[in-house]
Parts: sequence; C-alpha cells; structure tokens
Amino acid sequence: MRPARSTLSDGVTVSNVPLVDLGWQQREIADEVATGFARVLDDTSFIGGRDVAEFETAFAEFVGVDHCVGVANGTDALEIALRGLGVGIGDEVVVPANTFVATAEAVARVGASLVLVDVDDDRLLMSPDAVEKAVTDRTRAVIPVHLYGQCAPVDEIQARLEGLGIPIVEDAAQSQGSTHHGKPAGSLADVAATSFYPGKNLGAYGDAGAVLTRDADLARTMRLLSQHGSEVRYEHEIVGFNSRLDTLQAVVLRAKLARLSGWNQLRRDAADRYAQLLADVPDVRVPVTADGNVHVWHLYVVRVPRRHEVLAGLQQRGVGAAIHYPHPVHLHPAFAYLGHGPGAFPVAEAAADEILIPLPAERPALDGD
Ligand SMILES: Cc1ncc(COP(=O)(O)O)c(C=O)c1O
Repeated sequence: MRPARSTLSDGVTVSNVPLVDLGWQQREIADEVATGFARVLDDTSFIGGRDVAEFETAFAEFVGVDHCVGVANGTDALEIALRGLGVGIGDEVVVPANTFVATAEAVARVGASLVLVDVDDDRLLMSPDAVEKAVTDRTRAVIPVHLYGQCAPVDEIQARLEGLGIPIVEDAAQSQGSTHHGKPAGSLADVAATSFYPGKNLGAYGDAGAVLTRDADLARTMRLLSQHGSEVRYEHEIVGFNSRLDTLQAVVLRAKLARLSGWNQLRRDAADRYAQLLADVPDVRVPVTADGNVHVWHLYVVRVPRRHEVLAGLQQRGVGAAIHYPHPVHLHPAFAYLGHGPGAFPVAEAAADEILIPLPAERPALDGD
C-alpha cells in the first residue's frame, strides 16, 4: 500500500510516512505468532524451553557460528560478551565515538576504561588506523560496531591487532543479515553481541538480544553469566545475573528470522531507489557501502547541511525522519568523566551535526493491505 497523500492549499504535498512501521511485519507473521503464543501459554513454559532452544539453534545457523545464547537485550549481550572474555577493572576497551550509547555503557558497566576512537568519513565506521593508535598494553578488547546495517572493517582491524591477543567483540545490533566478504555479521570475530529491539532488522515484541561465538567454553561462560552463574538449579558456579531471552520473544524471532533475508532484500531495493532519487540533489551526501559489504540498511543515513531546515521540511510534508545520533558518545554528560571536549573526535562530531534519516524503508504491499 502506498502512503496516503493530500495536497494543502499552498500546494505542499503531505504524505503519511512513519519513520518506523512494524505493522506490515506483524500482519505477515500474525498467524504463526498466535499459534506459537497459544502453545507457550498452554504449556505455561514462559522461561526457556523448546522455543528458545530452537531459535538459538536457528540463529546460530543463520549467522554461521556454533553457539548462540539468547539474552534479555543487546546492552546485556555486550556486557556478557565482555565479562565472558574476563574484561573488568583496570582493562581498556576500544569503542567508536559514533555509536549508540549502549556500546560504551557495557564497557563502563564491567568497570573497564572506555577508549574512544574516531570513525572514517565515508562510512562513519570505526577507523582501523585509529584503533591501531589507541591500543596499549592494557587493551583487553576492541568493539567494532556494524552501524546502520553494514559491517565495520573487522578484517582490517584484525590485521592491525595481529599477534597482540586482543579479542574483538562485534556489536552486531544493527546488522542482522549483512555480510563482510561473504561472511555474516556476528561470525567475523571472537564473539558478537546483538539486539532484537523491536525496530531492528530482526526485532522482537519487546527487549531481547543474543551473544554468538564459535568458542564452546566462552559460550558456556556467557550462558552461566546470563542465568545467575548456574547450569544446575540452585548451584551457582560464578556470580552472574538474570538476563534471559523470554520464550514469547523467541516465538516472534523464529517467525521473523524465516523471513529476514527477504525483508532485507526489500530494504536494499528501497535503498537503491533512494540513491537514484537523491543522486542529483545538491549538498546531500548519500551513504557509501564499503567494498566487500552487503548492506542491510537498518537505517538509510544521509548527511545534509542545514539539517534542521531539511528535517522541518520533511516533517511538514508528513515524512518521518530522525537524527541517529545527535551526539557522539563523548559529548553526552554521562561520559563527560572521560574528559574529551568538542574537537576530540572530529569526524564523529561533524557527522553528528549533519546526519539525517530522510526516509524509512519502503514497506511491501501485502495481500488485503
Ligand atoms: C549499536 C547498538 N548497540 C547496542 C544496542 C543495545 O541494544 P538494546 O537496546 O537491545 O539493549 C543497540 C540498540 O539499541 C545498538 O543500536
């Protein structure tokens, strides 16, 4: 269905294009979700059980790793990955300045020192040069963020860390289904954390997340951490906490996972159209896909001067738009303790002043819609 349009007396065409529209996904999976929910409610198996195990197996297979542990959200997933690697007080973790705040929060929550680095100007992804310069003998992890739907240059970062024994934690929250030189996001490094927040490419009906790895010992530790350090009821091997994937969320995620590749293709088709439509618009910088990446367009982020005027114009015309993200990590009051003022990470700061998501991903026409 096309967005509804009307024309105001001054000739402005007004559309009704929401920034995020999850209704069409729900309509596509409604029957499957209703059947799955009814089964869980009948069984009263609200925590764990078959649905969680089946989703974990299916998602691990989709990503191409051996182990997936479902957890409560993507922020916990990052924290669990860091704790699973033994990162804690006195350690340094390298994170890009242009990311959602959760990447930085996870580092702070494990008690490690946050070392921010700038991003590259074309793709706004973690810069391997900056990582190389930031590494010290206290660095215990590097977290490249696969931002907006494409993979960070993990292989280049790996090359810069060669021989140092520093693990890489992928923040794969915005990139389910994307690939880097043919390998899926989440399978590129030692361990990955992802989020199934409702608006993600693979979104649940509430908070949910997962960690992924090929390492059986790390997977076991991360599972222990997510369930009070316990594998056997009331026996607690380590200090953990409660961060489990709800069974009802697993039902939704299973239904959506089966359709994710097709939905990602729709996003790619929409992104191609945006690129064509914006090609000749002066001053608009459209997003660049890195060589070797297959993008899944979690967000289509453009850069424009006089962004607030453009945003107001879009809003006046009923086109949902937003700024992801208005501030780089170091300029939030929460991270003022790091002591970085304006100018510390110029590329991330310039991007934060110019970025805009001008159009949401096109939704497909559905039967009866
Ligand atoms: C890049 C990135 N990392 C981490 C997270 C945290 O995920 P959650 O909101 O599920 O805790 C998000 C999602 O919001 C994200 O976009």
